Amino acid sequence: MKIIKTLALAAGIGALLSSASYAEGLSGKTIGFSQIGSESGWRAAETSVTKAEAERLGIDLKFADAQQKQENQIKAIRGFIAQGVDAILVAPVVATGWEEVLTEAKEANIPVVLLDRGIDAPEDLYLTSVASDQVKEGRVAGEWLVAEVGDRQCNVVELQGTVGSSPAINRKQGFEEGIAGAANLAIIRSQTGDFTRSKGKEVMEGFLKAEGGGANICAVYAHNDDMAVGAIQAIKDAGLKPGSDILVVSIDAVPDIFAAMVAGEANATVELTPNMAGPAFAALDAYLNAGTVPEKFIITESKLYTPADDPQGEYDRRKGLGY
Ligand code: AHR
Repeated sequence: MKIIKTLALAAGIGALLSSASYAEGLSGKTIGFSQIGSESGWRAAETSVTKAEAERLGIDLKFADAQQKQENQIKAIRGFIAQGVDAILVAPVVATGWEEVLTEAKEANIPVVLLDRGIDAPEDLYLTSVASDQVKEGRVAGEWLVAEVGDRQCNVVELQGTVGSSPAINRKQGFEEGIAGAANLAIIRSQTGDFTRSKGKEVMEGFLKAEGGGANICAVYAHNDDMAVGAIQAIKDAGLKPGSDILVVSIDAVPDIFAAMVAGEANATVELTPNMAGPAFAALDAYLNAGTVPEKFIITESKLYTPADDPQGEYDRRKGLGY
């Protein structure tokens, strides 16, 4: 069973990565990876893709799950430095508080690559950052909603990601920019759901209760699909139809949101690829083996998907990717 799952994952990831021969120069290198945890389906896929790619490329990947705690990440990074790894990957849980440990990595001549989230620190403390344009993701979601509702008055409730994380800050800003020109749209409630399904459901239940059982809510904007899936459940439990009584727009493009679209319960998502490791390994290969310094920011695509984009096909295409 495990072998079949691993083969399916490898096949799915093979389809995700454009070149089979990239980063082969990393074979035999040791790379530490400080991962945030497993709060969402997207996060699980990023971990699976990174591990599978490392294995395929012959990298000795030292994986550390921080269980959502920055202090665990700092500890893991210090451990990687002490082991003398060749490079470090970090998905930083929050944006602040990294200067000291990244200075230690720099002094040890260990290049650090940020994955999927940004930090507030001098740019010379990391080699490159592989992430999406998170402000754009929020803007794309907001602009979609503006077009979808037309002239209709629309009260929006917002489920924010982890407090202090770059996607929560930037996706909020982007969405506000996206709806700024539409006087008929307003965010009436906004609270963190910590990027998890259970918290998304719990917070949405509170929103529904506070807003006339949902009668006063036109749309929910969730900073990730997992919170949207939780919100969909809360809307159904309240006796309303997600996708029509309350529109649902979110970010990530995980298989479960496409399943919800097939069921008519979700309306739009903005894709975040779980393949952050591909560009990161390519950049590290070029840097460690040829001294080539990569661009400081490697930006992944942010594509909008709606029920018009073959959600069943998108579900099928993604389900083998470790979500
Ligand atoms: O940093 C990326 C975000 O973190 C994803 O959108 C979310 O699902 C994850 O937890």
